[in-house]
Amino acid sequence: MSLYHAFRPLLFRMDAETVHERILAAIERGWIKGPGPVSAPVTRFGVNFPNPVGLAAGFDKNARGLHAWASFGFGFAEIGTVTRHAQPGNERPRMFRLPEDQALINRLGFNNEGADAVAPRLENRPKNLVLGVNIGKSKVTPLEQAADDYAYSFQRLKDAADYVTVNVSSPNTPGLRTLQDRGPLSQILWRLREMDGTKPLFIKIAPDLNDEQIADVAALVNDLDITGVVATNTTISRVNLKQDPGQEGGLSGAPLAGRSREVLALIRQQLDAGRTVINVGGIHNEEEARARFVQGADLIQVYTGWVYGGPDFPARIARAIASPVLPR
Ligand SMILES: Cc1cc2nc3c(=O)[nH]c(=O)nc-3n(C[C@H](O)[C@H](O)[C@H](O)COP(=O)(O)O)c2cc1C
Repeated sequence: MSLYHAFRPLLFRMDAETVHERILAAIERGWIKGPGPVSAPVTRFGVNFPNPVGLAAGFDKNARGLHAWASFGFGFAEIGTVTRHAQPGNERPRMFRLPEDQALINRLGFNNEGADAVAPRLENRPKNLVLGVNIGKSKVTPLEQAADDYAYSFQRLKDAADYVTVNVSSPNTPGLRTLQDRGPLSQILWRLREMDGTKPLFIKIAPDLNDEQIADVAALVNDLDITGVVATNTTISRVNLKQDPGQEGGLSGAPLAGRSREVLALIRQQLDAGRTVINVGGIHNEEEARARFVQGADLIQVYTGWVYGGPDFPARIARAIASPVLPR
């Protein structure tokens, strides 16, 4: 049993978000260190990745641990979600563990320090890590003005980023997921493309979209020459749970794996060759990670699997999927 697994019951007795904050603070200060970088280089959309395993958005919302992520074995990290305005998010408690399911439910609601506060932290970003910046809509901004809100954060953060993800799929900002519809989504994407025609752009989608909605997103990505899709965010579904704490919010972790794979297959089928799929959702062991590449993922990200798997989880995953099994 690893040291982490010995201590885990103790950690799991404390509020999940409090533990998260303390661990992030310890990583930021260098008190907790990873096992060391993993080299399994791949090139995707013209960017060289040290390895294809990334830290999913939401873990480092304010870009506090940038210097540390490579040492945990990550080839890239997606910081955020960052919004135009700083915001506190929903009332606590708002993050819950489901240990029997190796899952989490969260309704954080984009708590973050805002684009102006995060931008300076990206200036001295480490070069041994590919950096994605995930942007979302501020809660105070009406849905009709969403494009302006995204445009502000994009302008502020894009230059330091290797790619930018437009998050329209969090279940915890009222109405946000309606921005996945063709009309509003194309408005946002046009706007960002006008501002910068070359910055790699991704759309992060919900696993709860139906087939027709997935087809719409894929068509838009093809038509507007968007770099790719991050699939998927958390789900509002509660199927296949051994324990359901009856909490509102987005479910992540092992129960999401099946749907995340389905969405990966659907989106891969419908995207033109050359578009990039970053697959995320329920990757909780090496086998699951490998399967995603076989099914057409170009890159993967993890969050909940790390919480349950311990500090060396990303490095283990990255080593397991090293070069020979990658289809391209
Ligand atoms: C506590 C928590 C906070 C999250 N915050 C964000 C966020 O701010 N932006 C975002 O795009 N996704 C966010 N996510 C979703 C993850 O990036 C990921 O898409 C999802 O958790 C599925 O992956 P997993 O099963 O490996 O956790 C969050 C997930 C968790 C568990």
